[in-house]
Amino acid sequence: MLQTAIEAAQRAGQVIAEHYPAGRTLTSKGGRDFVTDADTAAEAVILDLIHARFPDHTILSEEAGGSGISGGYTWVVDPLDGTTNYAHRLPIFAVSIGVLEAGEPLVGVIHDPLHDRTFVAERGGGARLNGVPLHASRIARMAQAAVGVDWAYTNDVRERVLACLHQVAPRCGTVRALGSATLALAYVAAGWLDAYFHLNLQPWDAAAGMLLVAEAGGRCTTLEGEPYRVEVPGCLATNGLIHDELLAIVRA
Ligand code: IPD
Ligand code: CA
Ligand code: CA
Repeated sequence: MLQTAIEAAQRAGQVIAEHYPAGRTLTSKGGRDFVTDADTAAEAVILDLIHARFPDHTILSEEAGGSGISGGYTWVVDPLDGTTNYAHRLPIFAVSIGVLEAGEPLVGVIHDPLHDRTFVAERGGGARLNGVPLHASRIARMAQAAVGVDWAYTNDVRERVLACLHQVAPRCGTVRALGSATLALAYVAAGWLDAYFHLNLQPWDAAAGMLLVAEAGGRCTTLEGEPYRVEVPGCLATNGLIHDELLAIVRA
């Protein structure tokens, strides 16, 4: 499954990279949520490979949908995470493929095709970037922390993000909004960000990234401090050392 996830993510990444310089067909899925021809082309490549190798497994994929999370193996696919960046030609986007076993993360792969970076995690097997082991950062003080966040699509959630930022920004080192939740989670695993939070993540945004963070020694919880599950919209991922402090600030 790990090899298939890597192969599928890299093939999809090639499709996305090939489409990148060309004009894109933008379609709104509602409000600010867009899909391009690259999303669907990349998704087809991934789903074909999974169907061919694991015909009995469940698939939940952002554009194609699916039958939810099963009690067996579920592939959770985001063929292009960071579509708004992609459409603006901002080079921050990735392919994300996670495999859940009875709802628990087993395999996670996030591939950034423009930078040729493949982030990989296996439950109990650690996290790696292009084969090199990853470790979350050792920053233990919020005042030094680089905290990632992302905007949601709707104004009511954006108001809640702003309320959180009003608490977080004065207390941390800096704040970044990258526009790709999967890459932000991979960056927490790599120690490039010390934390990331999102108020409305979807399962395909989180399935691979949450395993990467955990396997790199970090911590993921809901915004209530419970162990994170992909069905829950609110997510806080950190290096572990600043988790409780940031959780208290975000909840305030
Ligand atoms: C989006 C990105 C963005 C996050 C949104 C997601 P998409 O995914 O991850 O950073 O803020 O909530 O929907 O639509 O580009 O796959
Ligand atoms: Ca996404
Ligand atoms: Ca997507």
